[in-house]
Amino acid sequence: MTGRRARALAVLGAVLGGLVIWIVVPSGLAQDAAGGKGLALEKAFPSSSKCKRCHERVFEEWETSPLSKSIHSPTFRAALDEYLTFSGGKDKALCFKCHAPHVNEFAEQAVVFVTQVRSGDPIFDGVGCAQCHLIKQIDRSSQPPVPKYELGKTLFGPYRDSVQNLAHQSMESELFRKSGLCLNCHLSVPSAASLGKSNDLLGSWETSHAVKSGKECQTCHMPEQVGESANGENKRKVANHSFPGRIGKLRQEAAKLDIDTEVKGEQTTVKVSVHSLVPHNLPTTHPGWARVVLELAIKGKNLKTVFTDQRVYGRNYADAKGQNTVFDFMATKVVDDTVLKPEETRVETFTFPTPKDTRSFDVETSLSYAPVTGPQPFLQRIEAESSQGAQDPAFQAISIVKRSVNIPLGK
Ligand code: HEC
Ligand code: HEC
Ligand code: HEC
Ligand code: HEC
Ligand code: HEC
Repeated sequence: MTGRRARALAVLGAVLGGLVIWIVVPSGLAQDAAGGKGLALEKAFPSSSKCKRCHERVFEEWETSPLSKSIHSPTFRAALDEYLTFSGGKDKALCFKCHAPHVNEFAEQAVVFVTQVRSGDPIFDGVGCAQCHLIKQIDRSSQPPVPKYELGKTLFGPYRDSVQNLAHQSMESELFRKSGLCLNCHLSVPSAASLGKSNDLLGSWETSHAVKSGKECQTCHMPEQVGESANGENKRKVANHSFPGRIGKLRQEAAKLDIDTEVKGEQTTVKVSVHSLVPHNLPTTHPGWARVVLELAIKGKNLKTVFTDQRVYGRNYADAKGQNTVFDFMATKVVDDTVLKPEETRVETFTFPTPKDTRSFDVETSLSYAPVTGPQPFLQRIEAESSQGAQDPAFQAISIVKRSVNIPLGK
């Protein structure tokens, strides 16, 4: 722990002794941590660890979610620096508008956010509890949409009949049951030049069967369960805060693969149908390296691989010079777009020589999220920044679904 951080925590610890979480900090102390008004920020948006005391289940779920790491990952750190170099230091707040949305309230302190991220161990959360539960409304007139915060002691949430407590007031807000809260950050990401409609991340999700049948983002990504909302309170309907996505069981509901094989003498044709069950684009196309890959392997005699091929689903961007780029903030153009559209079925055809000297062969297919890609210096930077080095999760593919069949060969 750095001295700076230890000091900040000591101060916080001291003021947190009481029951109330929003405390007036003596102005002298406000000149600490994050080089300035770090504590004013901390006061308005208390750290999630303070909610843990009473909301242990929610906290533990959130802690495993990607949201708890939205400004902590080595990949974000490296990408932020690429962006700042590219923008020449202009609009330092851009990435934080979604990765640490309280920047919207502290715009003049964007540089503090940058310093904190660069430290590798920011003293505040990115998308923590307060960053969502202080949102009163969403202003969709600007791009990206801006959350309208009401800073104070009232936390907004899904319950009308929230049990009273000593730390905060509660108020029901319809927004928390609706996709609108999520769209704020998940609908589209701005880029160097106006990409217009093509820069949307979700596609025509509104016309999907799932959405038409009344599903919101929360239905799938914050599944309902029964448990304690606050420690020791009666069990009731609660929402899972681990935000299953690339990690979590939801992945198994992302797609189905069907294999149709036709052997015609020397040539064999395999048709793989990829049925996306996702009511929005798969993958979502921010960051620019987000890809889903379909792989095919044919195993012949002695299970030896005799043929492989793949198809890649994603969006390729070009920058102002016409060069391909994985950084969507540099993009001025979409070169090609192969993302799986909401609930789409894509049929891929592969043709190869029929395996010889064998009574049967295997057709193996798999769909997975691809690891991060990009220029070498960027990848090396992630490796250097990560405590896990080349084992950083960003370098691992994540399997979505696999399917294989054995095809007998008539003599
Ligand atoms: C303030 C901005 C913001 C809001 C509001 C927000 N998210 Fe996110 N969300 C993010 C960011 C940033 C990440 C990426 C975190 C990371 O991986 O570093 C993310 C990640 C996710 C993931 C993980 C994606 C993956 O690839 O696994 C899911 C699922 C998700 N959010 C769902 C939701 C849902 C559902 C809501 C609404 C209830 C919501 N989010 C509201 C910013 C937001
Ligand atoms: C409009 C909201 C928004 C803005 C602005 C935004 N992001 Fe994101 N970012 C997200 C969301 C949402 C995700 C999760 C994406 C998903 O899984 O679909 C994400 C994911 C990421 C990831 C992958 C997860 C991780 O932590 O490794 C990186 C890297 C990233 N963003 C970098 C940036 C950078 C750099 C900028 C600024 C140039 C930026 N983002 C601006 C919303 C945003
Ligand atoms: C002293 C204990 C305590 C602390 C600390 C605390 N809460 Fe609560 N909170 C509760 C209780 C009790 C409920 C009511 C639960 C119920 O009705 O089942 C509640 C309810 C909520 C609700 C639901 C409100 C609604 O109307 O839907 C939200 C959201 C919430 N808390 C967020 C937070 C956040 C964010 C923090 C940290 C900044 C926090 N709480 C800190 C005790 C606490
Ligand atoms: C990305 C936004 C987001 C973040 C971050 C977030 N929540 Fe929530 N929270 C929601 C939404 C949306 C609901 C309502 C879900 C529903 O009912 O479908 C909710 C519901 C709740 C509830 C009532 C239901 C329940 O599960 O107990 C509590 C309490 C709560 N949140 C506390 C917290 C705490 C504490 C944290 C941090 C550890 C946190 N939330 C982080 C969006 C968020
Ligand atoms: C019917 C269920 C369902 C609904 C509704 C739904 N999603 Fe998803 N979502 C999925 C599945 C399935 C996946 C893919 C598997 C995975 O990554 O978990 C996914 C993936 C994601 C991812 C990660 C994608 C990536 O490429 O990394 C994000 C982010 C996301 N959804 C956000 C949202 C948002 C925001 C909404 C609301 C507009 C929403 N989802 C509505 C089922 C759903």
